[in-house]
This record gives sequence, C-alpha cells and structure tokens, in this order.
Amino acid sequence: MDRYAVLGQPVAHSLSPRIHAQFARQAGAEISYQAIEVAPANLAERLAELHAQGYRGLNLTVPHKAAGAAACVSAGAAALRAGAVNTLVRLEQGWHGENTDGPGLVQDLAGNLGVALAGRRILVLGAGGAARGIVEPLLRQAPAELVVAGRNPWKAEELAAAFKTLGPIRPCTFLALKGDRFDIVLNATSAGHRGEAPRLPAGLLAAGALAYDLNYGRAAAPFLEWAQAQGAQQRSDGLGMLVEQAAEAFALWRGLRPSTAPVLQALRSDAAG
Ligand code: ATR
Repeated sequence: MDRYAVLGQPVAHSLSPRIHAQFARQAGAEISYQAIEVAPANLAERLAELHAQGYRGLNLTVPHKAAGAAACVSAGAAALRAGAVNTLVRLEQGWHGENTDGPGLVQDLAGNLGVALAGRRILVLGAGGAARGIVEPLLRQAPAELVVAGRNPWKAEELAAAFKTLGPIRPCTFLALKGDRFDIVLNATSAGHRGEAPRLPAGLLAAGALAYDLNYGRAAAPFLEWAQAQGAQQRSDGLGMLVEQAAEAFALWRGLRPSTAPVLQALRSDAAG
C-alpha cells in the first residue's frame, strides 16, 4: 500500500487524511494517509526517516512550509520563489518540493466560485508564509494590480520586491489603503487564529467585491464578519482552497486529478451539521 502523510504542529484536526481518503476511493486506489505531529526541531530528521521508510509523498502544514523547502533536494520554480513547500514528492535521492497552495486558491476562486481574476484589483492582507505562497499564481492570472498590505511595512515591501518581475505588485500599509477599492480581498494573515480581524480602513470593497479568507472554519469568522459589515456581496472561507491544493498534491503523486466537488460538498455539509 502506498503511504502518505501530513506533517504539522498541531495536526490532529487536519482534514487532509479525510480528503485524501475520498480522493483514493474515487481513484480506486488503496493508500494510507496519516497525520503526524512533528516539532520544528525534528522536521529534517522525520523527513529523512519517512523517506527511508518508503513514503510516496508528504504534505507540510503550519509551521513547516519554509523549513521543509530547505530540506528538499529539488523544488519547482514557484516553490523556490515562494520559499515554501506544502507538497513533497518522493525521488530516489530525497524529497522534491512543490507548493500547491497558490494553484489551489486560483482553482477555488476561478473554478468553484466563478470569480474572474484577469483585469481585477486584488488585495492580499498579510505578508507572511501564506501570502508568499499565493502571490505568483495570482500574478499569473494577469490582475490589473495586486497590492500586498502588511502590519509590518518592510515585510510587504520585501515580498513585493521579490515578485515584481512577474507582474504589477505593490506593497502598502493597512493605513495607507484608505481610499483604495478592490474587487477581491484575500485575508492571508494569521489574525483569525486569535479571534481577530486585521484592522482595516472602511470602504475597501468595490461593488460586487469578493472577500475571501485563506483559513476555514472558526479562524475565518472574524474577517468574514468584517466583510459582511462592510457590505461584501460575496464571502468565502478557504475550505475550497484546502480541497483544491490537496487535489493538486494528489495529481503530483499519482498522475490523476480527482474530482473535488463531491469532497468539498461532503465537508461543507458536515460543517453545517
Ligand atoms: P503564515 O505562514 O500563516 O502566513 P506568518 O508567516 O507568521 O504565518 O504570517 C502571518 C501574517 O499575518 C504576518 O504578515 C502577520 O503580520 P506581522 O508580520 O506584522 O506579524 C500577519 N498578522 C498576524 N496577526 C495579525 C493581526 N492581528 N493583524 C494584522 N496582521 C496580522
């Protein structure tokens, strides 16, 4: 049986084992997929162990995406630029790293939610690891402008500088956003994990704008409540992105992209129940 796992800390509540079990059922494949708790200090050692044990592929989640990139023997171009990997593919000599978070987000926005990205004004809130993983795939969709806003101005500046050859990206502080309007606002901060929303000026949402949180469940609630109070006509958490990034990972491992709609629907109806 082919073995896979997701490594994180904490990882007990990860939905990835469920998602991949459903993908495997669809594909008629017998796989095992575990959630393994790993402390940052033990990551490199665990990665080597799991490779030696014959694991076919791994997912990395918080807080391992950047350190995981450093432990790979090779990586895709987008993962290298992001400096973060969420999917490891077995090679004979070690792990190959990819980042499927950005492609998963684009697929959720454009495919599942039917939101066009080309020519739109996009705002990314936050300039940490989550933001780094999504900037390149977003720029490849040819937005009119992509503004990265961070609480720490220098982090947003550094991020925008790293990607400026790929398209119209501009750093900004939260305060200086005042007066600007966006068609799509993506929350890539970790504020929701502490029950907070980023402190933003009012009036950022253009008519018909989409407000999207990369987190899902309770962590997405504060930002989506802010968006509702600001009159956002479309709001979504990141559950669709989670399922889509998993489908991209499954495709890298097994050469077949599963159908995501039934899996997303099952997760949503569980959450509602
Ligand atoms: P992740 O890997 O989830 O992106 P991270 O690299 O720690 O985690 O980045 C989290 C981002 O959310 C950072 O940009 C952080 O801002 P700082 O760099 O100023 O810490 C941002 N963030 C966290 N809490 C926030 C809050 N309450 N308001 C605004 N931004 C916040």
